[in-house]
Amino acid sequence: MSDLRFPTRTLWPDADRRSIHVIDQAALPHDFRVLRISSLEEAVSAIREMRVRGAPLIGVTAAYGLALAIKEHDALEGAIARLEAARPTAVNLHWALARMRARVESLDALENRAEAAWIEAGRIAEEDVDQCRRIGEHGLAVLKSLAANKSRRLEIMTHCNAGALATIEHGTAISPIYAGVSAGVDLHVWVSETRPRNQGLLTAWELRQRGVPYTVFADNAAGHLLSRGGIDAVIVGADRVAANGDVANKIGTRLKALAALDAGVPFFVAAPRSSFDFSRADGEDIPIEERSGDELRTLSGLDADGVVKSFRLLPADAPVFNPAFDLTPGEHVTAFITEHGVCRPDALPSFFDANDHA
Ligand code: MRU
Repeated sequence: MSDLRFPTRTLWPDADRRSIHVIDQAALPHDFRVLRISSLEEAVSAIREMRVRGAPLIGVTAAYGLALAIKEHDALEGAIARLEAARPTAVNLHWALARMRARVESLDALENRAEAAWIEAGRIAEEDVDQCRRIGEHGLAVLKSLAANKSRRLEIMTHCNAGALATIEHGTAISPIYAGVSAGVDLHVWVSETRPRNQGLLTAWELRQRGVPYTVFADNAAGHLLSRGGIDAVIVGADRVAANGDVANKIGTRLKALAALDAGVPFFVAAPRSSFDFSRADGEDIPIEERSGDELRTLSGLDADGVVKSFRLLPADAPVFNPAFDLTPGEHVTAFITEHGVCRPDALPSFFDANDHA
């Protein structure tokens, strides 16, 4: 199991502007590897194979993928279509590509386009860092109010990985946790395993690296944990939020929201503006990605010698259903924690109006 400290960032562009490097998340948590991406096709594969994952990081990788495509003279619309098809649910991907298109389409000369695209991708990355840091600050205020008058540590539940690994730095749902630990808030994180891709193990990996106390639990234990009392809040990320607050997020989020509602535990969604899609009145038609059944039929882990092995759980032709995301109704969300502050679902989308036009 890799106990290497990971660099503060998950993606870094190379000085010669010919490639980027990313942490290969398909190898985690067993192995720490860095992957070089130097073409559109490599960017598409890295996103589709979930070597980079998490809505904000997918958006930034796609932006750099498009910048690499422009440098290589690939047709703009064809490159955007290839990247958009890589993963359909996270709106950050579409948002980042729309912004890149708007930046370059009026420029004629290829060198100008390539230069502008690379700079714009870098801006999107830097803004992501800043937004996630600010989500942490606003989330810290939430944690402090939850901790007020408590004579024990705060118990926070999360799902999937909405940590630093899912963004360029800091994370969304986990950013308030890091801000809380830095500010001396006594807390502990309940991390759900998140079958079948086990992104919860990525959360456990990054929390362990940063010395944040955590406990991993099987997804099926969430209802039990929430119902017996002692969990102060659930904080998750989002892949796409509709105008009425409906949230598309990692499969299993909805069950946690329902169990939290039943137990009277506040349920927070931490996400930057780029994860909100106000072109959709509600979440009903948000595309829900279905992934390969082999993610369910097999499992990978370390054998007794510490070697990564893949194990078969089901026959190769066993029928399975593998949706990667689900939809949580907006009315089940206590509040959104954004870079602009904390907002109740019924205050969307006007909450963002002033900031969108700033
Ligand atoms: O399939 P993934 O691992 O890309 O899904 C990630 C999630 O669902 C996260 O919760 C979401 O993207 C928010 S990440 C800051």
